[in-house]
Amino acid sequence: MTKPARRNAGSSSAFSLTERLFATADDRRAAKAVDTGIVRVEERLVEETAFHDGLAEVSARYLLDAGGKRVRPILAFLTAQLGDGVTDDVVTAATSIELIHLASLYHDDVMDDAEQRRGVPTAHTVWNNSIAILTGDLLFARASKLLSILGERAIRLQADTFERLCLGQLHETAGPRVGEDPIEHYLRVLADKTGSLIAASAQLGVLVSNAPDEYQQAVFDFGEKVGIAFQLVDDVIDLAPPSDKTGKTAGTDIRAGVVTLPLLYLQRDAPTDPAAAELLRRLDPATIDVTPAEEVDALIAELRVHPVTLETTAEAHRWAAEAVAALAPLPEGTVKKTLIRFADTMVERSS
Ligand code: FPP
Ligand code: MG
Repeated sequence: MTKPARRNAGSSSAFSLTERLFATADDRRAAKAVDTGIVRVEERLVEETAFHDGLAEVSARYLLDAGGKRVRPILAFLTAQLGDGVTDDVVTAATSIELIHLASLYHDDVMDDAEQRRGVPTAHTVWNNSIAILTGDLLFARASKLLSILGERAIRLQADTFERLCLGQLHETAGPRVGEDPIEHYLRVLADKTGSLIAASAQLGVLVSNAPDEYQQAVFDFGEKVGIAFQLVDDVIDLAPPSDKTGKTAGTDIRAGVVTLPLLYLQRDAPTDPAAAELLRRLDPATIDVTPAEEVDALIAELRVHPVTLETTAEAHRWAAEAVAALAPLPEGTVKKTLIRFADTMVERSS
């Protein structure tokens, strides 16, 4: 067993996601299949974002060219190795999923009125809301056309996933109903708006590669739970100290009044914990934008080391562990081992 060559032993971020997933020589075959698949997906993505209309092509390529980790295609390529491997159909499925993901980002940035995505100004700030929304629709149309090649089960999975993406966004916008537990509501939103597409990627890998049907539910559950863990880690990363590398301000979500799990835990604790109530009061979105910048920095720093943030990290790890437990029906071997590493990588990331 050999370890992959280290480019920079001191920094985990110096490794690509695939390098971090495949540690042994035995795993390298699987790694090669994933790497080749990613190259093919990148080519397909360029083909599928070609339009005769110049504006449509420029706006559709805009976020694609800005990068992305291709987490969903990688997951589909891993689960496809439970069947016939990374076939043409699996590349088609992975391309379609990535197009849906891209489409959802165009729409989400309009809804959030976000200024930046993948290090570039968002599409609606470059053009306008209508163009950004219609670009998302165009990408979604192309994704649907691709999935139609793969048959009714793939189309149905896409439709179910689209429904959940929309419901996740809708419920996030509406907030919890009267009497609904805000933390349960939040976790449901994460399962729908993020978990559902990651779950669909994992399931499509099994479905399209003709792997045994009984693996579908296991990898679907795995994907959904990993998606929740991924989003919870984002809540903690949001509080990370400012970094020259990412150029990111600490507490972007908190400053924008976005609900995150550390805040929901503070709200839960406030009735019985005066210190939590006081911190929550000082983090109030209604007043935070008129609070002096140094004071807000100090509040974010306080929240960063607060038990509610440690509890959020623990919750992310709990979801990742549940994801791994969902893999029980899978045979022992490279795929299962790599999926476990995939879950670990998602919760151990720092950006
Ligand atoms: C990002 O959440 C948003 C999503 C993961 C899902 C968005 C879904 C839709 C807009 C509905 C589906 C639409 C189409 C066209 C498929 P976030 O705002 O918490 O994350 P961020 O920090 O990446 O913006
Ligand atoms: Mg957003």
